Amino acid sequence: MPSTDSDERILLAYFSRPGENYWNGGRRTLDTGNTEVLAGLISDRIDCDVVRIEPADPYSDSYDDTVARNVREQNGDARPDIAGGLPDLAQYDTVLLGSPIWNVQPPMIMATFAEAVDLSGKPVLPFVTYAVSGLGSTESFYRDLDTGATLGEGLAVRGEEVRDSGAGTDVDQWLRAAGLL
Ligand SMILES: Cc1cc2nc3c(=O)[nH]c(=O)nc-3n(C[C@H](O)[C@H](O)[C@H](O)COP(=O)(O)O)c2cc1C
Repeated sequence: MPSTDSDERILLAYFSRPGENYWNGGRRTLDTGNTEVLAGLISDRIDCDVVRIEPADPYSDSYDDTVARNVREQNGDARPDIAGGLPDLAQYDTVLLGSPIWNVQPPMIMATFAEAVDLSGKPVLPFVTYAVSGLGSTESFYRDLDTGATLGEGLAVRGEEVRDSGAGTDVDQWLRAAGLL
């Protein structure tokens, strides 16, 4: 268990979809999703509880089918169901919310999660992996949800680079800036 300088109680919740994905202009099939790798870099560095957000209706392994489903969910302002229970946030001071970028914003299941748990008054720091869009509209996505959270600075790491050594440096900087390392 890594030790954290801060005595914050931190929850890291993330969604990540392995399978066929965009990779440097082509496609690659990943056994472990990029955001899961990034979540691991973060949880290796700080003392936090980790929750993986699992869709009740899993996303297809096919990239194109997932793109199409996501467009439908975004256009319909959907709240895809989450499998299993949700964490009780009362015991946490800070929440780190991780996801890929889908069509320039987090997947709608992140809205399901953010609205279903009680984030009011809590600092929420988003982190994402992406191909070209960086954070995209991540910050306004979370801000526009009526959660009462205080949104902190986000971290964006390119999915194709999340397994490179430079990703750890970005994570260190982000955690230090947030006072968590
Ligand atoms: C449905 C879908 C939509 C995507 N849309 C974007 C996008 O708009 N901009 C972008 O930079 N990357 C986009 N990507 C690429 C992912 O953000 C990127 O590959 C990410 O690292 C995947 O993380 P994961 O493996 O944890 O799911 C998209 C990927 C998928 C599957």
